Amino acid sequence: MKTTHKIIIGDALEKLKEIPDESVDLVFADPPYNMSKKKGLGWKYSKHVTMQEGWDIFTKDEFFQFNVKWIKECMRVLRHGGSLWVCGSFHNIYQLGHIIQNFTDLKVNNHIVWFKPNAQPNITCRFFTESAEHLIWASKNGNGMRWTFNYEDTKNQIYDDINPKGKQTRNVWSIPLTPKKEKWAGEHPTQKPEELLRRIILACTKPGETVLDPFVGSGTTSAVALTMRRNSVGIEKEEKYLKVIEKRLKPAQKTLNEEVNIQIFN
Ligand SMILES: C[S@@+](CC[C@H](N)C(=O)[O-])C[C@H]1O[C@@H](n2cnc3c(N)ncnc32)[C@H](O)[C@@H]1O
Repeated sequence: MKTTHKIIIGDALEKLKEIPDESVDLVFADPPYNMSKKKGLGWKYSKHVTMQEGWDIFTKDEFFQFNVKWIKECMRVLRHGGSLWVCGSFHNIYQLGHIIQNFTDLKVNNHIVWFKPNAQPNITCRFFTESAEHLIWASKNGNGMRWTFNYEDTKNQIYDDINPKGKQTRNVWSIPLTPKKEKWAGEHPTQKPEELLRRIILACTKPGETVLDPFVGSGTTSAVALTMRRNSVGIEKEEKYLKVIEKRLKPAQKTLNEEVNIQIFN
């Protein structure tokens, strides 16, 4: 099966407008969390420094408007029966949920807790140690179409130390932080583990369908979609990540031993 993978360099708020209505089967979005500090906070016991990325700094109002705009555009490009998955931490997940529930017709199907068994320690020692991220799965129903949920595949192909193989998969997933072996192509401060994307794409799409990621970063969604024989569209504002994305797509392409079409729009 031949699949196509488009990488579009530019601002998602602009580039999403060029994507036709109802043309996408799944949107996975790992947007800015607005958790960066102008000066990162470090710790003498580790190399870990808190985030300080320009693309992740907004005022409160700017952040709300930004989230409303991209979520509404994603709702428009999703086909009926398609799904939107969004990732967040306590910094943004409540706002994303509020927007989905009050500003769109999407239906929330699940909230997944992604538990990180090897999470970073808490630097200040004034809070519990954050060791989870949160994902909202919502679907665009209507026109007689319901969401895709590949139930048998989830039972047999999504398992970990919380979820036994062959049983119904719970909404708590145990997945370690992105391993070094997935970071060989270059640096990205918030690269997601491939396993997280594999589970989402497996559960909510069929081979040959199209996955859109409006904040594709280092290209995790595109690389995983490619190996799973789904088409993909990835949008990324920072041109510096393009090299990483391209590097990651090439070996993914080789593993398939079949024709894959990669298109870069820069
Ligand atoms: C949280 S990261 C995504 C990381 C990605 N999931 C991965 O595995 O590499 C968010 C990405 O969105 C990009 N970004 C921020 N604002 C954007 C915008 N308005 N349009 C497109 N990309 C944007 C950032 O440069 C960053 O790479």
